[in-house]
Amino acid sequence: MRGLFITFEGIDGSGKSTQISRLRDYLVDKGYRVVLTREPGGTSIGEKIRELLLDRESSGMHPLTELFLYFASRAQHASEFIIPLLEQGVTVISDRFHDSSVAYQGGGRKLGIETVEDLRKLATLGLEPDITFYLNIDPTVARERMGNRMFDRLEAEKLGFYRRIQNAYGELLKIYPGRIKLIDASGTPDDVWKRIEQQIEHLWKDRRSR
Ligand code: TYD
Repeated sequence: MRGLFITFEGIDGSGKSTQISRLRDYLVDKGYRVVLTREPGGTSIGEKIRELLLDRESSGMHPLTELFLYFASRAQHASEFIIPLLEQGVTVISDRFHDSSVAYQGGGRKLGIETVEDLRKLATLGLEPDITFYLNIDPTVARERMGNRMFDRLEAEKLGFYRRIQNAYGELLKIYPGRIKLIDASGTPDDVWKRIEQQIEHLWKDRRSR
């Protein structure tokens, strides 16, 4: 049987990594073979693209250049890594996938949510997650979590950027109400995990009754 493809989404500081490892432990406990991965990255070509994208010296990058680099990393990731694993029956959990491009480049960088959404099929090789956990957190709370207390003009701009991203995720929830699960990411890691666990149990029940 084909493995499950699970993705995590949310703004920086939403606490994805903690929840991803908890979900991995939970699934391994249930007997699943699980592999964790992330975007940008996940392959050696992808990791090189990641360096280029996250390098401070890349600050002058045009939003379209940025979009196509994320796409380049994703095409490699899907074809070389994710799809073959799923075909071997492995469950793949990815920290971010195409929804991030819609939210960050479409919303955050103002390329347009629809513009990026329209390219989904091409950019993902048609690969769609079975389930996506969107960890929703207020950008001011996320920033506090990241320990960033300075609030100057640049920070105010950043807050606007993150609000646009949050808004784009809200639009994606409307487009994919079945696939994307809205998770309240406030509270302790335990609180958040309980919310995710509940959703997973629902999913199992649905699968069993089918
Ligand atoms: P990372 O350090 O992995 O952050 P996080 O732990 O929050 O995922 O950096 C990934 C950054 O890349 C993050 O700020 C989101 C951004 N990103 C995009 O802008 N577009 C994309 O398509 C993807 C996959 C990531």
